[in-house]
Amino acid sequence: MSNGWDADEWDARYAASTSVWGGAPNRWVEQEVRDLPPARALDLACGEGRNAIWLATRGWHVVAVDFSAVALDKGRAAEPPDAGIEWISADATTYEVDQPVDLALLCYLQLPAPLRAAAVQHAARALDPGGVLLVIAHDSRNLVDGTGGPQDPAVLYTAAEVMNDLAGTDLELEKAEEVLRPVENAERPAIDALLRVRRPS
Ligand SMILES: C[S@@+](CC[C@H](N)C(=O)[O-])C[C@H]1O[C@@H](n2cnc3c(N)ncnc32)[C@H](O)[C@@H]1O
Repeated sequence: MSNGWDADEWDARYAASTSVWGGAPNRWVEQEVRDLPPARALDLACGEGRNAIWLATRGWHVVAVDFSAVALDKGRAAEPPDAGIEWISADATTYEVDQPVDLALLCYLQLPAPLRAAAVQHAARALDPGGVLLVIAHDSRNLVDGTGGPQDPAVLYTAAEVMNDLAGTDLELEKAEEVLRPVENAERPAIDALLRVRRPS
């Protein structure tokens, strides 16, 4: 992968720490999903599964996909009994669901534009009518005006760029914005991109 992070490198990163991203769900996932009725969800690039596990505890049936076997093992180990998450080792840029989903989530999948577009378009194709695609990412502006996140501008992006990846689809825009995420001990918040679109019912 051209951003220098392949599955082996992610495996090494996950193996080096008990929990890379912490156990709590991402705040924007909580905010955007809280009011959706639980159904079937795809968490693409799920990492250690913090969002997948939170969704499952709220009654969602979750398909959690990542190409890091170490991350998936950590997710399985952290999963509460009966959560029923399907942990799948696959490439997010090519993965096709067996059954359509009502929520497709991409949370901080930072890839160069062509690979990002492939992942976003696969996630969009997975949606049932009425389904929501939620993309959360380190925004391009984070590099200069925010905090943390990847330092390679090629893997940062904006909500508008993701919307552009979806040009020609029937997806309806619900939110495309920059959101500010407080970071402990940092002088400035992180700047995230948030895109929420829905397939018409
Ligand atoms: C920054 S982490 C985010 C993990 C998780 N979404 C979260 O928010 O906690 C990015 C994840 O993307 C995964 N990833 C990167 N490129 C991928 C690809 N092409 N296919 C599948 N997973 C990928 C990595 O293994 C890593 O777990």
